[in-house]
Amino acid sequence: MKIQDKVIWITGGCSGMGLASMELFLSKGAKVMVTDINEEKGKTLTYEYGANVIFYKADMTKTDELQAAVNGVMSKWGRLDVLLACAGGGGLTWALPMAPTPESVQSGGSFNWQYTNEGPGSLEAFVKDININLIGNFDAGRLAAFEMMKNKPNEKGERGAIIFISSISANKRHSPGFNCGYASSKAGLLGLTKEMSVNFAPGGIRVNSILPGFFDTKIVEEIKGIAGAQWQEAAIFPKEPGDPKCVATMATEIVENYFVNNATIEVTAGFTATASYQ
Ligand SMILES: NC(=O)c1ccc[n+]([C@@H]2O[C@H](COP(=O)([O-])OP(=O)(O)OC[C@H]3O[C@@H](n4cnc5c(N)ncnc54)[C@H](O)[C@@H]3O)[C@@H](O)[C@H]2O)c1
Repeated sequence: MKIQDKVIWITGGCSGMGLASMELFLSKGAKVMVTDINEEKGKTLTYEYGANVIFYKADMTKTDELQAAVNGVMSKWGRLDVLLACAGGGGLTWALPMAPTPESVQSGGSFNWQYTNEGPGSLEAFVKDININLIGNFDAGRLAAFEMMKNKPNEKGERGAIIFISSISANKRHSPGFNCGYASSKAGLLGLTKEMSVNFAPGGIRVNSILPGFFDTKIVEEIKGIAGAQWQEAAIFPKEPGDPKCVATMATEIVENYFVNNATIEVTAGFTATASYQ
């Protein structure tokens, strides 16, 4: 699908991969609706990037806010062609909480872990991750596809494209152990990709997932101290955090390449060749 003049909805577009993707889609002649909970940044987008960007504050866990944003983009530009669902979040969601031993923290090398014995992990924290990353993306996907179905199909029969951002955490070969909620939700997105790609195929809507490795963006701030160095080491080449632009270019390629459907595309610097950093 050509990107020029298309309308792209980017969730979580105020930062990191979403923001980098917004810039790239704009440079290719698209119009972009950004939704995010970061109202302060969101309100500056049109001023900074021009009238081809609109912003709505929409929390992925609030269906009325997502629906209001979709209504807004339809009344502004009259169509929706692409959903790039970047918004996500995740905290420490142990089933049995652990912490690095004081000795391993002091030595500054690889951590050794021990149970904190403070009781079972938080159910609330687990549910929070599932709500944002899995249920929120199902919600955005169904709302977007409903509008895409109104598009006249192009010469290949395409009406739209949906891209979910999964994570290395969804991969069987990588297990930090503290990511029960996040990993489950991101693995769930791979199932959602498969189901929606079949569900939407008769309508000419492709559904794919990008699976990023370690990117030094805001989302990893909380866990960087206990995982960042190991994650970086786990990449094969290059051994450095990813640049959000690497996800942005993959997203535009997926939109432009009509033959990519039901795919999970890894952007990890080879991270997945390693087993576990623990
Ligand atoms: N950074 C990494 O290493 C990494 C690795 C794998 C996957 N991911 C995934 O990539 C996606 C983009 O993350 P990023 O690295 O660009 O992080 P980021 O923190 O820079 O951007 C995430 C954006 O999502 C927004 N957001 C958070 N919760 C939201 C909610 N409930 N509703 C609406 N917006 C919300 C934030 O305000 C922020 O603007 C996320 O889904 C994340 O899980 C990141």
